[in-house]
Amino acid sequence: MKKIVCDNYNEMSRVAADIVARQLKEKPGTVLGLATGSTPLGLYAELARRYNAGEVDFARAQSFNLDEYYPIKRSHPQSYYRYMHENLFSKVNFAATRLPNGEADDPANECAAYDAGIEAAGGIDLQVLGIGMNGHIGFNEPAEAYSMSTYLVELTESTLDANSRFFTGGEAQPTSALTMGFGSIFSAKSILLLINGAGKAPIVKRLFEGKIHTDVPACLLLLHPNVTVILDKEAAGG
Ligand code: F6R
Repeated sequence: MKKIVCDNYNEMSRVAADIVARQLKEKPGTVLGLATGSTPLGLYAELARRYNAGEVDFARAQSFNLDEYYPIKRSHPQSYYRYMHENLFSKVNFAATRLPNGEADDPANECAAYDAGIEAAGGIDLQVLGIGMNGHIGFNEPAEAYSMSTYLVELTESTLDANSRFFTGGEAQPTSALTMGFGSIFSAKSILLLINGAGKAPIVKRLFEGKIHTDVPACLLLLHPNVTVILDKEAAGG
């Protein structure tokens, strides 16, 4: 696991954008794995800026997102579908983009089709990840056993609390989600984990303790051969 500590959030976002841009240059038909949440917003803004400046091109690239609430309408202000369209997909020129479908009638079928789609695309080349306060990756919450493939998961109180800040319009907060499992995530050839803010320092400390804490899902990433963690000073604990 390679670690890059940046002075601040903007630098973290720029360094991450450098890695994504390099990947797209080396392989224009790249398959990107993408995350939502507050962490990658700076990366997405920087990629949109570079696209407008003619510095990066997504014309042959495709993407698969990690997760989506379930059930949720795509038009819902808090759907990850909407987040991705507003923050990235409407601003750059991907050949194809996909998220787990929060409107699917049959979640099991949707999950199987999603994994088949990733496989048919040749697997993910570069997977962008954030980390939850409890160490979750995607919506893989701390558990006794971790799913390999994409699946329907019930969210924990900790994650519901952390995300309740987004559901302020009186709308019901979904208590389940569709998420890629660790098998799908590990099929990525390389992984970029972004972490910022002092609130994440305690989980970062556990991640880098040199042990696989089985109650910290992100610790499983220590076993992947090609992970780069980019964090700001605050998350790194100074
Ligand atoms: C979102 C996702 C989540 C977030 C995590 C951190 O697609 O997969 O695991 O990465 O909850 O969220 P933020 O970035 O809001 O702290």
